[in-house]
Amino acid sequence: SGRCVVAVDGPSGSGKSTVSRRLAATLGAQYLDTGAMYRAVTWAVLTSGIDPHDAEAVAKVAGELDLDVGTDPTEPHVCVDGTPVDRAIRGPEVTAAVSAVAAVPWVRQLLVAQQRKIIAAVGRIVVEGRDIGTVVAPDAELKVYLTASADARARRRSAENAADLVATAADLDRRDRLDSTRAADPLQQAADAVVLDTTELGIDEVVARLRGMLDGRS
Ligand code: C5P
Repeated sequence: SGRCVVAVDGPSGSGKSTVSRRLAATLGAQYLDTGAMYRAVTWAVLTSGIDPHDAEAVAKVAGELDLDVGTDPTEPHVCVDGTPVDRAIRGPEVTAAVSAVAAVPWVRQLLVAQQRKIIAAVGRIVVEGRDIGTVVAPDAELKVYLTASADARARRRSAENAADLVATAADLDRRDRLDSTRAADPLQQAADAVVLDTTELGIDEVVARLRGMLDGRS
């Protein structure tokens, strides 16, 4: 079967990752987690002892590293200069610094170029992030924007990380604000995206609806 790019955007805790991986697996498609790429650059920045708010130094690190990201939905992986960083990029240090790193225009240029290359090479792929429908793949066959109430998002994230609910809610709120208000490619709903509120929906229900939309199109 031919090219099929599905763009899944939305704020943290909206269910993007789980939904995107499952959708890719049921479609027999590949999966690209663009957030993991921004997190991997952030890991490299912190490991180099660089201040994540020093845009010039961050851009330099980003330009020099070799980022390898897998697209198998059953086992996503990301390596920086050959080192697997899957676990480290989910830690609190990276999570606290990633929005600053992702706001650096040169970092975005580099990663968007790499993401477009992967998408072009693979063809059938579910891509999740913040700017997929608007910037990375504006010609995607299906664009989805997932939302959920702030409360539901905080509950999901704190359950995943076994973290404190109040602290998680504050962190999500801070990241969403930074991601939505930055100058370069902010989190935004594409004009032609299907908006799905997942507050009251289970994962299977969301995946089934997206499959239905894809079937309706082909
Ligand atoms: O999706 P995840 O929470 O792993 O993304 C981590 C961070 O990476 C986001 O908060 C955002 O700052 C950045 N990001 C981005 N553009 C994307 C994906 C993620 O700026 N396409």
